[in-house]
Amino acid sequence: MIRSLLTVTDLGREGFHKLLDLAAELKEAKRDGRERPVLTGRNIALVFGKDSTRTRCAFEVAAYDQGAHVTYLGPSGSHLGREESVADTARVLGAMFDGIEFRGFGQETVEELARHAGVPVWNGLTDQWHPTQMLADVLTMREHHPGAVESIGYCFTGDGRGNIARSLLMTGAMLGMDVRIAAPAALSPPQSLVEEARRLARASGAQVTVTEDLPSALDGAAFVYTDVWVSMGEADAEWDRRVPLLTPYRVTAEVMAATGRRDTRFLHCLPAVHDTTTQAGRRVHERYGLEGAEVSDEVFTSPASVVFQQAENRLHTIKALMVAALGG
Ligand code: CP
Ligand code: NVA
Repeated sequence: MIRSLLTVTDLGREGFHKLLDLAAELKEAKRDGRERPVLTGRNIALVFGKDSTRTRCAFEVAAYDQGAHVTYLGPSGSHLGREESVADTARVLGAMFDGIEFRGFGQETVEELARHAGVPVWNGLTDQWHPTQMLADVLTMREHHPGAVESIGYCFTGDGRGNIARSLLMTGAMLGMDVRIAAPAALSPPQSLVEEARRLARASGAQVTVTEDLPSALDGAAFVYTDVWVSMGEADAEWDRRVPLLTPYRVTAEVMAATGRRDTRFLHCLPAVHDTTTQAGRRVHERYGLEGAEVSDEVFTSPASVVFQQAENRLHTIKALMVAALGG
């Protein structure tokens, strides 16, 4: 069983589904009050170079449920990257902790950390990948789609170069799913990544579609997924460039209806810009006259939206990851 999780293809198809089976078991056990802690006495470091609500809370609650302790190091307050190198920090944390979660900017940092820590390292999001998110997303799809995972078609619409789009592209390709990425040409996933996805698809039987044409990508999709238009760490000035490019790709009731299915569900990794109750939402409204950005409030709050179940599944899947790595 693989112990670290650095990118979305690390687990392989079988390992990915095995972990989701364990997550489903753990979810049921918690719900029924029969969870058995197998991480008692373990210590987990949570290192966040960017903010987080779900990922941090999922790691913390999962660890506590399983009897482990956590130490949180936030974007400021440790020496990492300023007074101390990633490699030295990895050696120190590896000597004290049994596992390390890391959220940061470049993927190379989490890889460097894993090379030197000597304990499992879990990628809690980088600019390139969000592997723990993919576990929760596919678990949520499995819960809503009876039958083979391979028969699920999902459409990501938005910035095709972001960590979520890239992760969904490669995850679906690995798992043999029907994955469609709809994005404007200027925000299309890098060609090398699309080629890699197509290579994976040849082995898994997946269908991979990358297109500017949203209606064709939506046709028959069981899930419509989107993400924020400007990610953590990106320049504020990106909003001016992306709003005109991405407005045709926002998820509205018309977009949901365009799948041609009545049972299409809406997914979003969260946080989402869907109304004007947040600073981001108010700014988008003031600057561009939009009520919500990547998704309308109507869709976000509709019965088709399973985003909070998806968010809860971060807990069960991250717990499975730690139990599989350290519970033996
Ligand atoms: N989806 C996700 O990673 O959320 P947080 O940024 O709140 O951890
Ligand atoms: N693309 C978003 C995902 C947040 C979970 C970001 O990186 O900010």
